[in-house]
Amino acid sequence: MASIVSCFSKFCLTLFLLVLFHGSTNAKLSTNFYSKSCPNLLPTVKFIVHSAIMKEARMGASLLRLFFHDCFVNGCDGSILLDDDTSSFIGEKNAAPNRNSARGFNVVDDIKSAIEIVCPGVVSCADILAISARDSVTILGGPYWDVKLGRRDARTASQAAANNNIPSPSSNLNQLISRFSAHGLSPRDLVALSGSNLAQDFIYRFYRNLLLVHRVGAPARVYNESNIDPSFARTRQRNLYRPNYARPNT
Ligand code: HEM
Repeated sequence: MASIVSCFSKFCLTLFLLVLFHGSTNAKLSTNFYSKSCPNLLPTVKFIVHSAIMKEARMGASLLRLFFHDCFVNGCDGSILLDDDTSSFIGEKNAAPNRNSARGFNVVDDIKSAIEIVCPGVVSCADILAISARDSVTILGGPYWDVKLGRRDARTASQAAANNNIPSPSSNLNQLISRFSAHGLSPRDLVALSGSNLAQDFIYRFYRNLLLVHRVGAPARVYNESNIDPSFARTRQRNLYRPNYARPNT
């Protein structure tokens, strides 16, 4: 837990940017959207996210990622939550970036069930994802921000769109820049947001690979290349290799 907290403190800006972006693209969203129709929404979500993280700290990271993967496919519309509907669409859950790695669906289900008891038929799952991501970050020691609400849930989903839009670890830098740019995010945002992958100890090996592939500050580079300022390289080395991360062979 301590390492997760310290990782999060490093990426406050990161996460804040993500939420700012998603909250600012729709003029109809507002922080008090449910203040009359579902006044207990925020405490209810927070309670369940908190319980889930106490049970398994990784769940906070998983919920954050779920929101990211929802938002990158046709907007933050909860479409990632939809199971395949054999008569009309193949959903996003089994798209390559999600299959066997997207987690937290059960927590979202628990939240939705609890919310349906306190204010039935009012709150969208897309908003639940957005609040859960914020609560996860805050509970794990990151910043707090007011989440703008009022998203509508999708009635359809697209596996193809998920495969095409969610960045892959094998994407090159231009592809990553282009994927982020399609969502109004700059290369600077891309670099900052990529730090979110450190929200989970487990992710270390992926992060290393990601950075190697994406050339946004690869550990191998800070160790092996001579064209990087030595003091900057030492700082990066310290930050990337925390005691509870497996040290790479390189
Ligand atoms: C830049 C492009 C990105 C790529 C290619 C990428 C790829 C990945 C991969 C391959 C994993 C491991 C999944 C697994 O468990 O098998 C992962 C995990 C994760 N990613 Fe990313 N990611 C990217 C950006 C982001 C962004 C923008 C965020 C959030 C703001 C994010 C948050 C996370 C989190 C929190 C995890 C850990 C999830 C968990 O442990 O359940 N990633 N990412």
